[in-house]
Amino acid sequence: MAELLVEGCNRLKGEVTVQGAKNSALPILAATVATADESVLYNCPRLSDVDSAVKILRYLGCSATFSGHSLVVDTKGLCCDHIPDALMRQMRSSIVFLGAILTRLKTAKLTFPGGCELGARPIDLHLDALSRMGATISEKHGEIVCAAPKGLVGANIALAFPSVGATENIIIAATRAKGTTVITNAAREPEIEDLCAYLNSCGASIRGAGEGTVVIDGTDKLHGTAHTIIPDRIVAATLMSAAAVTGSDITLRGVISSHLSAVIPVFEEAGCDIRIKDGDLTINAPGRLRAFSTVRTTPYPGFPTDAQAPLMAVATLAQGTTVFVENIFENRYKHASELVRLGAKVRTEGKVAVVEGVRELYSSSLQGSDLRGCACLAVASLAAQGKTTIDTTGYLERGYENFDVVLRNLGANIKMI
Ligand code: UD1
Repeated sequence: MAELLVEGCNRLKGEVTVQGAKNSALPILAATVATADESVLYNCPRLSDVDSAVKILRYLGCSATFSGHSLVVDTKGLCCDHIPDALMRQMRSSIVFLGAILTRLKTAKLTFPGGCELGARPIDLHLDALSRMGATISEKHGEIVCAAPKGLVGANIALAFPSVGATENIIIAATRAKGTTVITNAAREPEIEDLCAYLNSCGASIRGAGEGTVVIDGTDKLHGTAHTIIPDRIVAATLMSAAAVTGSDITLRGVISSHLSAVIPVFEEAGCDIRIKDGDLTINAPGRLRAFSTVRTTPYPGFPTDAQAPLMAVATLAQGTTVFVENIFENRYKHASELVRLGAKVRTEGKVAVVEGVRELYSSSLQGSDLRGCACLAVASLAAQGKTTIDTTGYLERGYENFDVVLRNLGANIKMI
């Protein structure tokens, strides 16, 4: 059991460099399989989800070696076309290996992926797209068997929803398919642009990354490269939330502020002063926060669903009422009932949460039940009077590198045991 101990009400001060993005690192690690070569990934975050991806790569016959935050991956030795259930269940992103294995070996077998329980998380868009690209897909006893004996072929794929994972799976698969693939209603998240930057640097031909239409011309061969992972915009939003609830003044280094364009105005509306200069973002929070306009989570460039939970911690202490509408996942308010234990006033109904700000939170014993929900509880606890314990059952390590150390260095009284 991993437990976070927080003694609240310390003000934070200082600078912190934001870690590399989990949601970039994971699809890029899957994409290395398509290259059949060696790549070096810089600024790769040390997270349990990244370790899970490394375990999958090794199981498949590839090598992966960390040195600090640099990860050298060599996928020449790929010799296995299946991922065992135990590895598939460790995270949702394991499904993105499907397109990569299939495009390289022409067969792939895996089971349904795991990940945080945020409601139903189907993979129909991934499978439909790969079958449009010529794969036959059958499912038996929970195992998905895919085959494209003559190789994948380019196709026009109109996504019913701009799924991040499905867009990534299709892009990776299409880099080595015969002909051209056009994805319409593609996801536009910065992590997809980062994946495409990596693949283009490996010799792929991808146009429109970060736009709604992505065009991929398949090629016979890719090669390895060196690539630096972008900073994690959700970690940045979490640290900004920590500063906001504690009335603090901190600087985040190495931020790409355009990736936070839907998030920054919310903090400003709450009364925080934000200054951006050369990749540094300084946030200076007021003594009392103000409630902000309705936060509606939508695909990028809208407000990110992953930042909903940390921002809810901010709303609990803001003067006035804030409404959240969660449009991406159906069950993403598990942190709400735990916030109530800290004295917050939060009601949820379906996709809506209503938060009436209170003046003070007090300590409690909390149970986290997903990655961003744990981050929300930790942020709220930083502002709560007294000692709070949060059972994080390993969720935080999936997406935050040394969560407690980072905040301790900023002056928080927080410890993971
Ligand atoms: C990725 C992110 C996750 C983020 C999410 C939305 C990674 C590793 N994870 O997850 O942090 O919260 O994007 O920004 O990058 N859907 C279907 N069928 C499918 C695929 C998805 O119905 O085949 C639905 C999902 O159930 C969900 C919505 O589409 O309701 C969004 O999912 P998707 O964009 O695919 O998220 P992930 O790639 O799983």
